[in-house]
Amino acid sequence: MAAGTNWLASLLLLFATPLAVEMVKRDEFKTCDQSAFCKQHRAIKEPTGYELLANSISHNGAVWTARLQNSQNTLKLNLVGLVDSTVRVQIDEPETAIRKRYVPNPALVAIPEELKFSKVVNGAQEAKILSGDKKVKVVVTYKPFLISIFNEFGELIAQVNRDGKLKVEEFRTKEEGKEYPDGFWEERFRSFTDNKPHGSSSVGVDVSFVSFKTAYGLPEHADSFALRNTVGNTDPYRLYNLDVFEYELNNPMALYVSIPYILAHRANRSVGALWFNAAETWIDTQSSVTSKGLFGKVYDKVTGGGDNVPHFDAHFISEAGLVDIFFFVGPTVKDVQRQNAKLTGMTPLPPLFSIGYHQCRWNYNDEQDVAAVNKGFDDHDMPMDVIWLDIEHTDGKKYFTWDKHKFPTPNNMVDKVAASGRKMVTIVDPHIKKDDGYYVYKDAKDKGLFVKRTDGSDFEGHCWPGSSEYLDFWHPDTRSYWKDQFAFDRYTGSSQNLFIWNDMNEPSVFSGPEVTMDKESIHYGGIEHREVHNMYGMMYTSATFDGIMARTNGKDRPFILSRAGFIGTQRTAAIWTGDNTADWGHLEMAAPMTLSLSIAGVPFVGADVGGFFGNPDEQLLSRWYQAAAYQPFFRGHAHIDTRRREPWLFSEQTKNVIRDALRARYALLPYWYTLFQQHSEDGVPPMRPLFYEFENDDSVLEEQKQWMVGSGLLARPVVEKDTFNVQVKLPRGDQKDERWFEWVSGVEKLGETIYVDAPIAHTPVFQRGGSIIPTWQRIRRSATLMKEDPITLFVALNSHGNARGVIYLDDGQTHDYQSGQFVKTAFNFTTKSPKQAVLEGAHFGGQFAAKNWVERVVVRGVQSSPKKVEITRVSDPVQTLEFSYDHDSGVLVIRKPEALLTLNFKIHIEF
Ligand code: NOJ
Repeated sequence: MAAGTNWLASLLLLFATPLAVEMVKRDEFKTCDQSAFCKQHRAIKEPTGYELLANSISHNGAVWTARLQNSQNTLKLNLVGLVDSTVRVQIDEPETAIRKRYVPNPALVAIPEELKFSKVVNGAQEAKILSGDKKVKVVVTYKPFLISIFNEFGELIAQVNRDGKLKVEEFRTKEEGKEYPDGFWEERFRSFTDNKPHGSSSVGVDVSFVSFKTAYGLPEHADSFALRNTVGNTDPYRLYNLDVFEYELNNPMALYVSIPYILAHRANRSVGALWFNAAETWIDTQSSVTSKGLFGKVYDKVTGGGDNVPHFDAHFISEAGLVDIFFFVGPTVKDVQRQNAKLTGMTPLPPLFSIGYHQCRWNYNDEQDVAAVNKGFDDHDMPMDVIWLDIEHTDGKKYFTWDKHKFPTPNNMVDKVAASGRKMVTIVDPHIKKDDGYYVYKDAKDKGLFVKRTDGSDFEGHCWPGSSEYLDFWHPDTRSYWKDQFAFDRYTGSSQNLFIWNDMNEPSVFSGPEVTMDKESIHYGGIEHREVHNMYGMMYTSATFDGIMARTNGKDRPFILSRAGFIGTQRTAAIWTGDNTADWGHLEMAAPMTLSLSIAGVPFVGADVGGFFGNPDEQLLSRWYQAAAYQPFFRGHAHIDTRRREPWLFSEQTKNVIRDALRARYALLPYWYTLFQQHSEDGVPPMRPLFYEFENDDSVLEEQKQWMVGSGLLARPVVEKDTFNVQVKLPRGDQKDERWFEWVSGVEKLGETIYVDAPIAHTPVFQRGGSIIPTWQRIRRSATLMKEDPITLFVALNSHGNARGVIYLDDGQTHDYQSGQFVKTAFNFTTKSPKQAVLEGAHFGGQFAAKNWVERVVVRGVQSSPKKVEITRVSDPVQTLEFSYDHDSGVLVIRKPEALLTLNFKIHIEF
């Protein structure tokens, strides 16, 4: 919950019942019109008139530089060639600028790896620049200034400044008597005044994705997955990390995360653009079609000679920073994802427990409550991995402390939970209670680690503990101090089995403008908060991550959940979509929001199951568990004022539905784990929009009710009230020969758009022909307790009678996998002839002595019953296997092959 400027009133509101839907206080948050820089940039109708000065061009290796000029100012353009079909366009003030602009480098994995241009031709009207890998061509037109980017097929895919909206407000020194634009030196909003000692320094430019109609990204918004037309319709999408109380759906208002990234996609082509800026940002978007006009020739290639060119336009507007755009030129969507991930990072392989189910509420009251909840899951035979403690577990909201009455023996409590194979998570927020008796406050005060006001005093604001100060994570001493706080001997009650939840890290400041920190506040090195606001949460969680790494000297893998996020957040934290509401709209919105984060590089994402505010009825709660079981981060959570909702508090039917949903998730953990491992290598998210797998299919571009888990499973959970039959689209692929099987029954489904029955106990999920999905079928208390369990393989045959898949396993907990302690085994099912098929298991990586063996193989889409099934394992003699075949469903079940994942095997099927 966030309170607004009037935080006491908001606190009182908590107790008002019932909780109404759509209570967002819109007037607490700025519209574009109320923000001077947004209003000015949005109002640009005529081109700003920049031209490139041909005599200013210089070129050195991977950097091509020139000056831009219009009637008002001169700017510096840098074009930088990077590895893997990536180019960077930077526009800054020239060296004479009175202040250096902030570049959010900590968001990147490392300094981007440059690659010398392979050819540069500086002509009289334009320059042609070819990337080092010869896959990207950039044409810079001098007058009017325009950048055009072509992919390896010579297709124009993106343009910068096509509409001439480039605008950079230069830092200035105030001159008395001179006239300045509205809001240049100070701006008011409600009761707040924002002083700008260096004046306004906004930047903006338009980026056009040429030949694309559809684009995605710009998380986080509670809005459709495919970006919509904001121009002429709504405010632009706003990216400004904010704690928005009871956020509304279908709205471009800012939320907790800001990732200024757009992915444009059409059949077989993708391009990504990352707007590298950490200040408040607004983006107007519009999909339109224009006649080719002046650019006739360059467009011919993408339109096949037709008259009209579709384009998706984005006008990026930021309050500070540079015009700094990375273009990921693809050409395929997975290429783009990798190119982005190379620069901004991937989520490292998470510990196994963290992809299981998490049980949270604000709050579990005391140690007895924790024990009872832990036992409840056992009594009701429901798997669960983590019990969470919200802010009430602390002594007066002083993080790293415990309420001594409710939690007198935290170590003991965590140990007991751990003894049942589970973990715990405690919340640690970035606001530090202003209390001399609180060691963190005292230390940070003494060492000067807090964010400052312009007069050099510490910035203060209200949050949960009352008067609080905020740690400055740009200060290297803050980072090392914070890291030390997680040491086992420093954080009382913590242990290897306790992990961390970072909340309120936008940062949320109840007493501040728009419930956050004043923009004029100062960080280490003189950085203004306005320059870095959107990355505060990322800087904070990355410091927490360092602490969790350090406490075991890097042995164990950390797990951290964060509410705020920015580019690069994925390297250290999972993200959840904050304070949603227990209604059907919010359940439905969880998919577009998590898909949008996934494609923007943040794959470990989820929404509060059941909805944070309000009380879900049994149908809604049931459907929520069913949907979230197929989303990456799976956690039930609820507001302090809601009724308790542990699954066993409901009817027998609901309890069974929830149990089934949990079990369905746990069965698929080997698959999810393998997908996360693959993501850590190639950046492709486990939860994917359909177009990731069916790149050529234009009919799935707007799809947001169904998604893929990996390349083998399609989920279309029911998110509509009183709906027991749903429409599902099963893409048939380029060759129109894709096969689909119902996940539970194994029955093949024919037709491209089908209707399936979805009674309350059923979740429509389908397995794609050609995939092999590894599962665990012996569901236990927790993922940790299942990690050595045998594997059941689900083989779905494609139209050629073939299928393939992979499994990755390791100890589930440590970094030993980095030194080879893992197992990777490939499965390959081949139909050799009408009489003969083979399933091969080939161990192809790692030396981990995994105990897991394949205990059953279920083959879907088999035409007739085999005569004989045999297995050969390395040097063992041939052994006959038991099997059964069901004619009606075409499902063959092969029993007990007892094949270890670490040893190669072949199962021969004779028909
Ligand atoms: C706000 C978070 O979004 C919510 O999940 C949490 O329960 C409350 N803060 C209290 O910590």
